Amino acid sequence: SKERGWRTQHLYMYQNFWCQPQQIQAIVTLQDHFQARESDIILATIPKSGTTWLKALTFAITNRNQFEPSSKVHPLLTSNPHDLVPFLEYKLYADNQLPDLSHLPSPRTFATHIPYPSLPESIQFTPGCKIVYLCRNPLDTFVSSWHFISRNNVRAEKLTIEEAFDMFCEGVVGFGPFWEHMLGYWKTSLSRPEDVLFLKYEDMQDDIQYHTMKLAKFLGFPFSAEERKVGIVEGITNVCSFDNLKDLEVNKKGKSIADFENKTLFRKGKVGDWVNHLSPTMAEKMFWVMENKLGGSGLKFKV
Ligand code: A3P
Repeated sequence: SKERGWRTQHLYMYQNFWCQPQQIQAIVTLQDHFQARESDIILATIPKSGTTWLKALTFAITNRNQFEPSSKVHPLLTSNPHDLVPFLEYKLYADNQLPDLSHLPSPRTFATHIPYPSLPESIQFTPGCKIVYLCRNPLDTFVSSWHFISRNNVRAEKLTIEEAFDMFCEGVVGFGPFWEHMLGYWKTSLSRPEDVLFLKYEDMQDDIQYHTMKLAKFLGFPFSAEERKVGIVEGITNVCSFDNLKDLEVNKKGKSIADFENKTLFRKGKVGDWVNHLSPTMAEKMFWVMENKLGGSGLKFKV
């Protein structure tokens, strides 16, 4: 594979996306061995698009009969969402492991950053296996990842924000190019809407109740009129909210994904913070990239 961007994270191109060399073995093992079930739920994102939020919501929705959302002992109050919904490539198949996932109760819920065409075939083709894709406008995604990487100190050598931004715009970022990542799931969601639900972070911020109901329905866990009446939807959006999760002790300490500190998973949780970090020239460049790469696809973002 071609080497590129060694100054950031030693990224390599594998099957048309950029990833760290130590991740490739996990991804290959996953592709070769993972057996999807018809009841599986796969949460897919490009990093920093709201994965933590989507994991929390999905866990709270699918487990609401066992754990009432407003319960004082809800698992989301004592476990980081990444410990409740593991990443396939960062956790389960990391370090050359071949995990036995057969004993897990249905619906098994997993997360991944892998682009659609490189998902294990059984995820793509097992009828009933559901994929939820969450994406976010690339300006905020970049700003979020810039802070995340800086705070976790994973850069071999510090880049300026301008250098990192130029690489992002060229597509050189983990699991990127971002437009390929988005378009792979976007196109599948258009042709197979019963298998892939496509969500946007900005829309969720606009109306989280509506999107929580939409997500629940897609997953096969629709809310009854009675549940809506007694405030179960609101209970779920509250327990999963940025303000609630950020202040929990469990989310201020420890590491739930690889070497990343849990406290760095919760920064601002807002739409449009990019204006505070990117110059007008940088923003203009990104608008051009978005128009150029996403223009004809129908995929648009509120920024
Ligand atoms: P910011 O850095 O812009 O604040 P991921 O979970 O994919 O790593 O994405 C992280 C981004 O989602 C961060 O964005 C983080 O603050 C935000 N986030 C985390 N939990 C959230 C929640 N419950 N609701 C809304 N945004 C959340």
